[in-house]
Amino acid sequence: MNTVKHAVIPVAGFGTRMLPLSKSVPKELLPLGDKPAIQYVIEEAIEAGIEHIVLVTHGQKQAIENYLDINFELNTQLEAKGKTELLSKVNWLPNNVKVSAVRQGKALGLGHAVLSAAHVVGDNPFVVLLPDVIIDPFITDYSRDNLVEMIANFESSKRSQIMVEAVADEDVHKYGIAEPLESDSSSGQHNSFAVKGFVEKPDLADAPSNLAIVGRYVFDAAIFSYLEKTVPSVGGEVQLTDAIDALISKYGVDVYQMKGQSHDAGDMITYIKAFTYFSEQQA
Ligand code: G1P
Repeated sequence: MNTVKHAVIPVAGFGTRMLPLSKSVPKELLPLGDKPAIQYVIEEAIEAGIEHIVLVTHGQKQAIENYLDINFELNTQLEAKGKTELLSKVNWLPNNVKVSAVRQGKALGLGHAVLSAAHVVGDNPFVVLLPDVIIDPFITDYSRDNLVEMIANFESSKRSQIMVEAVADEDVHKYGIAEPLESDSSSGQHNSFAVKGFVEKPDLADAPSNLAIVGRYVFDAAIFSYLEKTVPSVGGEVQLTDAIDALISKYGVDVYQMKGQSHDAGDMITYIKAFTYFSEQQA
């Protein structure tokens, strides 16, 4: 049975790499083809069995909550006009999926954002999805299995699962990077293996591999107690990567090597490339 029903999605950031587009429209609502970026991420979570979305957000980003809410007046108008196709497009979120929003309060980093959701997630295992990262939904034969397999691995091993993707040398400094174990560390599960640790945004010379954390995590609630003890480090921020590193010494953590490819929708150049690709796929 799948016990992972909660997903934490941090959306409080200002999206400075997407200015001026993100000045008054949250970057998560910018389009990729015919849908806002965050819709792909939430659909991915729902396909993996998630039933409770917890947004970690900011007062200036209420448009995201509105997008996930029911617009009663709009529905009434569309119903009156018999626009059934449009009705299903705006009411895409299944009725059984709950959405909660918590405020981060202070911009203290990704680790702090995840910890801000602790009182809603409680003792439940949960996934974290970073909405800048969109797993290619068009490679349909296997890309959407990634989160499903990560959760299945977690259910059978109870070890946290961190999705990684091999990145080019020049991109290593933008990511949390995994340090593989020297000996064979295959966990005997789908695409996953144990790791020695992680380094947040290393210089290429110090990087232990080119396996980058790409924004999908499955955690036991124990991560919250590690986040409470995590002090600011790289960039003066409370880093999720540091808490994972601490978790490794007690529980062990597996990386899950993703299939397909990811798109970075949080940076102007890569967003434009992704936008073009999504539009072409849907044209
Ligand atoms: C965060 C994480 C980093 C991860 C990245 C993926 O960094 O801290 O470990 O590799 O997301 O997108 P950010 O991009 O928020 O600086």
